[in-house]
Amino acid sequence: MRNPCVAHRGWSGAAPENTLSAIRLAADAPDVDWIEIDVRISRDGIPMLIHDAKLRRTTSGSGEVSKYTAQQLSKLDAGRWFSREFTGEKMPTLEQALLMASGKVRVNIELKTDGKRYPDLENKVVELLRRLNMEQNCVITSFSAEALHKVRSLSRDVTCGLIVDRWSDRLPDRLNTLGCRFLSIGYGAINKERLKRLNREGIQTMVWTLNEVRLIRKYALMDPGLMICTNHPDLWRAALRSV
Ligand code: G3P
Ligand code: CA
Repeated sequence: MRNPCVAHRGWSGAAPENTLSAIRLAADAPDVDWIEIDVRISRDGIPMLIHDAKLRRTTSGSGEVSKYTAQQLSKLDAGRWFSREFTGEKMPTLEQALLMASGKVRVNIELKTDGKRYPDLENKVVELLRRLNMEQNCVITSFSAEALHKVRSLSRDVTCGLIVDRWSDRLPDRLNTLGCRFLSIGYGAINKERLKRLNREGIQTMVWTLNEVRLIRKYALMDPGLMICTNHPDLWRAALRSV
């Protein structure tokens, strides 16, 4: 058994985050198991891949993502900020991303919401997973308990995961109450003891975001089942050769 690799925002160390190029690199690699992607919603209700609420950092646009239609968003350049080679790269819809991943890598869909900000996001994402018959190949994660509660009420089939960046001894109970079988946790908040406890409770854990061989090795040695989220699957490969 070896630690599963999760390509963070796609293979975002080698291509612009949350684009089809970053997803393609991960999906075509024979040993990458998962991708993690960030999702918000367009003005006309289409789930789109983008990390920030505003367009400026990763696209040629400006202002709030949710003020634009999917068609307007898809005209922006989402690659040039990363490097000239990716000029013309587009912001994908969640549907395009899922179709590219399908049959190759599983997908961790992070809902970038507090549960209220985009009232229809949870519904649109669940509806899409159902239509593409991909509920079993994805987890839906969020920092927002409210968003996960909404997802849970829409589907009993999809796995839900809470994202946290600090530990609490009440966390396993909280996950249970929310109906989450998956935990996405910042690496400063996890250790071997805590992992043992989560394993006993039947929780699948992913740690983010490990971008150094030394760190990847350290966490891999804690538990071979721990999912490792990284911008650099090539470093994950190098680290695991020596575990
Ligand atoms: O899903 C875990 C991790 O991606 C959360 O942080 O800022 O990269 O979305 P961020
Ligand atoms: Ca994320």
